[in-house]
Amino acid sequence: MTPPPEGRSCRSPEPVRPRWSPTGPLADARSGGAAYWEAAAATFDDAPDHGLRDPAVRAAWAARLRGWLPAPPAGLLDLGCGTGSLALLAAEAGHRVLGVDHAPAMIARARAKLAGHDARFLPGDAALPPVGEERFDTVLVRHVLWALPDPPAVLRHWAGLLAPGGRLVLIEGRWGEADPTGVAATELLACIRELGLGFRVHVEDLSGDPALWGREVSDERYALIAGLLGAA
Ligand SMILES: C[S@@+](CC[C@H](N)C(=O)[O-])C[C@H]1O[C@@H](n2cnc3c(N)ncnc32)[C@H](O)[C@@H]1O
Repeated sequence: MTPPPEGRSCRSPEPVRPRWSPTGPLADARSGGAAYWEAAAATFDDAPDHGLRDPAVRAAWAARLRGWLPAPPAGLLDLGCGTGSLALLAAEAGHRVLGVDHAPAMIARARAKLAGHDARFLPGDAALPPVGEERFDTVLVRHVLWALPDPPAVLRHWAGLLAPGGRLVLIEGRWGEADPTGVAATELLACIRELGLGFRVHVEDLSGDPALWGREVSDERYALIAGLLGAA
C-alpha cells in the first residue's frame, strides 16, 4: 500500500478548532443541522449515488464496499446513515448493521429500506453516537465528517468505538469546482496521523469511477480506510 502525500495539518494555531471549508454551496447542509436533513430526506434518494436505484451504480458501491469491509459477518456502525443505502448493501453482504442519524425522517426511511435485515437504527449525534459499550469491526461514514465541527475529537471518538482490529471507512470529498466544499484527502490523512493512533491508512480515489456517481465527476472524491490493519 502506498500512502498518499502528506497534506496540511488539521491542527489550527488558533484556539478555535479547524473547520473544513466553512463556506460554499453546501454550507446550508453544514449549518442547518438535523432540520436541513429532515427536510432533505424525502428527495435524498433521487440522487444516483444516494438511492443507488440504478443497478450499475448499486453494483459499483457494492463492489467497493466488499473491498473496504472485513469478511462478513462483521459488526458495522454507519454514522449519519441517511436513508440507509450503504447500510443495505452491507446487510445484504452479511454484516450486522447499526445506523445512527440525527434526522428522524432519514432513520424512518432507513428502517423501511432494511426491514427484514439484521439492522438496527437509532436517532443520535454521529459525533457521539448512542452505542453504549458496544464496539464495532467497522465504523462507516459517508459524506458526514466534513460537516462536523470538531474533526479531531470526532475521529478520536470513532476510533475508540472500534473493536480490536477494527477499521474506519471514511468516504469524503471536496465537492464543486469554483468554491469546493468538503475535506481534501490530504487534510483528513494529516488529521488522522496527528491523532497518533498508529493507524495504517489507505486512500482510494473515487473520482475516476463514474459508475459510483452515475456520471463523470471532476472534483475530489475518495475513500480513506484507517485502522490497525494487519494486511495493509
Ligand atoms: C450527505 S448525507 C449522507 C447519508 C449517508 N451516509 C449516505 O452516504 O447515503 C448526510 C447524513 O448525515 C446526517 N448527519 C449530519 N450531521 C449529523 C450529526 N451530527 N449526527 C447525526 N447525523 C448527522 C444527516 O442527517 C444525513 O442523513
